Amino acid sequence: MKKYPFTTVEENLIKLLRDSPDVISGEKIAQSLGISRVAVWKKIQKLKKENIPIYACKRGYSLSNKMIFFKAELDNMIKNISLFEDYYYFYETSSTMEIAKELAEKGKRVIVIAEKQTQGRGRLGRKWESQEGGLWFTLSLTNSIPLKHVFLLTYLSAVATALAIRDTYQLPAKVKWPNDVLLHERKVAGILLEIKAEVDLLLYTLIGIGVNVNNKVTHKEFLYPAISISEALNKEVQRLPLLSTILSYFEKLYSEKTLILPLWKELSETLGKWIKVVTFGKEVIGQAIDLDEEGALLVKTKEGL
Ligand code: BTN
Repeated sequence: MKKYPFTTVEENLIKLLRDSPDVISGEKIAQSLGISRVAVWKKIQKLKKENIPIYACKRGYSLSNKMIFFKAELDNMIKNISLFEDYYYFYETSSTMEIAKELAEKGKRVIVIAEKQTQGRGRLGRKWESQEGGLWFTLSLTNSIPLKHVFLLTYLSAVATALAIRDTYQLPAKVKWPNDVLLHERKVAGILLEIKAEVDLLLYTLIGIGVNVNNKVTHKEFLYPAISISEALNKEVQRLPLLSTILSYFEKLYSEKTLILPLWKELSETLGKWIKVVTFGKEVIGQAIDLDEEGALLVKTKEGL
């Protein structure tokens, strides 16, 4: 499996299209890259095959998704992170959870990022819309932590994501039990935790994080309407600072686990509210009071706690 799908020439071609406000001719591309027009044509066909949204017209070529992660910036990002060995980047894949699972099975601690997922998944078997413009990635951890503490990783990820949204875009992100990040009471990010364990031994953990950044959000979300960062700020934003900040908070909280629950409580949209908890085959209505030390949400109902 390749960690980055484009060669340097392909990257330069994408950059050229990204930085050009207008359609750019094949001749101009050939000149700038120092390759023949036939070579330009071949490269464009290859990129189109990989679903890069390049459009051809009589006057030349243009690119519809101007926000792509480049190798040098991802290389730089991973240098500052020690929990993960490497990253894998895809323009389009089924789900980063699937790729991360394949790598975790081989014992790899990696970050898998995709611009677009065709089978993005959410909690409880729901589909997760993952169009271009969002931040979709999965972290695979093979470090063993006791199985009974694995719940902490969901809280850790939600806190890291909310704090990173606050720092990067100065937006008042909050966390909602158990795994959502909200902005103005709408869902801006979701966390999906999948594990492989044997009896009480954790073999690996996959943490999927999806943040609506510049992608269009549909407002059909089952329980909560969705929002994107660009909708909240009324402009498109860079995603790399968000990714780096999430990862550095992740690393910090991973090494200082006692901070996780107090921070979650501080950022919580849930505590103090009257809520309805819907779990498999069961509904609980009451007031959310606190989290216990095992991460369970304590709800005060008519029948008691
Ligand atoms: C939820 O709120 O239900 C969780 C959503 C998790 C979505 C992310 S996007 C990256 C990773 N790949 C997936 O297929 N899902 C997670």
